[in-house]
Amino acid sequence: MLLKLVGHSSFGFNLHGPSKVGKSLCLLAASSISGAGRESGLSNWGDTSAAIEELAPRLADTLLPLNEVHLIRGAESGYYGVIKNAIYVLGEGRERRRHSASSFAKRDESLFACIFFSTAEHSFDYYAKCAGAARDDGELARCADISALMPGFETVVDQYPSGIDQTVWRDFAERLLSGIRQGCEHNHGVAMQPFVQYIMGDIEGRREEVMRYMNVFMSKLDNANLNAVWHHQAKNFAMVFAGGCMAVNAKILKLDKKRLLKILLRLFWQAHGNHAETRPSVEAAKRTLNDKLRSARIVDQRIAAPDRHDGFFTSDGARRKYTVKTAVFRRWFAKDRRVVASVLSWLHHENLLVISSSLKTGVSPLEDRTVRWPDNQPLRSWVFYDPTQT
Ligand SMILES: Nc1ncnc2c1ncn2[C@@H]1O[C@H](COP(=O)(O)OP(=O)(O)O)[C@@H](O)[C@H]1O
Ligand SMILES: [Mg+2]
Repeated sequence: MLLKLVGHSSFGFNLHGPSKVGKSLCLLAASSISGAGRESGLSNWGDTSAAIEELAPRLADTLLPLNEVHLIRGAESGYYGVIKNAIYVLGEGRERRRHSASSFAKRDESLFACIFFSTAEHSFDYYAKCAGAARDDGELARCADISALMPGFETVVDQYPSGIDQTVWRDFAERLLSGIRQGCEHNHGVAMQPFVQYIMGDIEGRREEVMRYMNVFMSKLDNANLNAVWHHQAKNFAMVFAGGCMAVNAKILKLDKKRLLKILLRLFWQAHGNHAETRPSVEAAKRTLNDKLRSARIVDQRIAAPDRHDGFFTSDGARRKYTVKTAVFRRWFAKDRRVVASVLSWLHHENLLVISSSLKTGVSPLEDRTVRWPDNQPLRSWVFYDPTQT
């Protein structure tokens, strides 16, 4: 609904990961705001992709669920063609006319706009590769791959209250997911009316509000040097941030805006860092990382001193585990936040980043940790396994 307010064209996300981790439930939670209360009510890739041109204009600017890519008929190598076509049709926001790779950047004059939300076992990057293709710019600008699992977690639930022991995380996650499922069934559609009323109460004012929140998000990427495709992606994330803030203002969502900003920035950099074509910049950073880890300022834990060293290593079986001061880690990459975030998300993607077993409420694995150095001094640090040993 907010897309039309500020003239932003349709975009979406693909939440990907193994089965039974809670992807469809996330989709249900998102779509329950305006629609279905049960998974059986969600539209999916199998039914929808063929009919997308007729269906899209009837969406009335709400969320479009596209559950389970594997419901597309035919071989995996054919999925990307279907996905790409669907995203073009949605992104054009009108009956299909002509596909042009640069059309994603032009100002929106479309008849409809929606945020589509796909779930799949794999990333769209992967399905493109299966088709022997790379992702097309026009399509990539409109859809980010988001990993459903943070390393070390078995479900989409990646934050636990501090009092909860790791051995009962599974039970906790199952209870939470089941509670959300029940909540969707009982309350779907309830939040929509107050939200619409809030927006309609002062359309001009709300338009400015959305723009202001989007600018807050974009200002965090001022020095990021993004290309046109990722700049467009960033604006999609900015739109989601604005939507969340508007929901808070409309009093249908209780969430700290600063925290939402942090989460969305992290997701953006993760999507960016995991995307195949932005990896070259990570390649150079990986070499820097390997050089620095072998420098004289990273020493064995037994002789490490916080005032003289940047980090230390220990041996965990055959693997080396590094602890590096957060501030030093940033300096290694010339304090370029984009590079730091890409390196961290790469470490995280490779399952090398060590997460705390005593996560405090609201702490996510992609936050640095306070670590006790050998002299017992607590220091903000990153902990990860040797990236050259994989
Ligand atoms: N109708 C249901 N009632 C209770 N639990 C369910 C139901 N559907 C799925 N679950 C459980 O919820 C969890 C998440 O399921 P789901 O969101 O469907 O995962 P995914 O889409 O990632 O395969 C799983 O543990 C699954 O067994
Ligand atoms: Mg599913």
